[in-house]
Amino acid sequence: MNLALRVGGPRPDGFHPLDTVFEAIDIFDDVEVRPAPELTVSISGLGEDLPTDESNLAIRAGRALQSRAREVGLDCPAGANIRITKRIPVAGGMAGGSADAAATLVALNELWGLGLSAEELRAIGGELGSDVPFALMGGLAHGVGRGEELAPLRAGAMHAWVLLTREHGLSTPAVFRQFDAMYPGAGEPADTAELRAALAGPAIDTVAALLANDLQAPACALRPEIGAEIELIEAAGRAVVLSGSGPTIAVLTSPEQAEELAAQMRADFPYDVHIAYGPTAGAHVRMAE
Ligand code: C5P
Repeated sequence: MNLALRVGGPRPDGFHPLDTVFEAIDIFDDVEVRPAPELTVSISGLGEDLPTDESNLAIRAGRALQSRAREVGLDCPAGANIRITKRIPVAGGMAGGSADAAATLVALNELWGLGLSAEELRAIGGELGSDVPFALMGGLAHGVGRGEELAPLRAGAMHAWVLLTREHGLSTPAVFRQFDAMYPGAGEPADTAELRAALAGPAIDTVAALLANDLQAPACALRPEIGAEIELIEAAGRAVVLSGSGPTIAVLTSPEQAEELAAQMRADFPYDVHIAYGPTAGAHVRMAE
């Protein structure tokens, strides 16, 4: 989740400078790795029609890890089976592909006995995608650059999010292109200092009032029904924000009120409604029994 996602005009490399606050939430995929002669991936759950060839981000993570290991003179096996069980909606604006890439990096680092440090994995992650370093780090963090330059933040409270996810995703590059079309000549991103200060305290209301996402208007321009739903939720006095580049919508509440709010959302909207809590851990290894 991005509690705030402030976006500036595109850099010469096409990426947009960001000032963002990331929070890891507990909707997660499982990534299982086993020894194998070749590097392969299979996907079950939500992403069954995703590509499983060399373009797959988990395969690219495995390849990037192999080349880094060999560069520093480590002996690295050629393969592994990667099995992803997906629960994070695909193209939902929740960095699910980045989470899988991050999990693949930590899992293969362990399986292959490479012993690369968290910092080295983060550097490899940053080349794979802007959100991969945060998916490795987890917790709550301030992100700048294209989102890969991180500083951890301390959270003063536990947050509950009621998420409205939908079947048809949105393409992140298309939403950024729409941003460029709507805001020609955009300068540096707005800053998130006020939100970061509020997050250190225990009150959710002050945080709720500072949620912001500069990709919300572009995403709503591409999918007007998202804007209509956000307006309805705002009219009911709720703190709502688009998640990343959308189309997932996130409503912030306290852990005590989450179940009741989710029940109300289920009654009001024809979408999948989930409850997620944050901040939580980033990608980590759990040994098979
Ligand atoms: O870094 P990642 O591969 O996740 O980015 C996906 C796409 O999102 C990029 O190709 C780019 O179009 C857009 N993007 C951007 N500025 C960022 C992050 C992503 O324009 N800071």
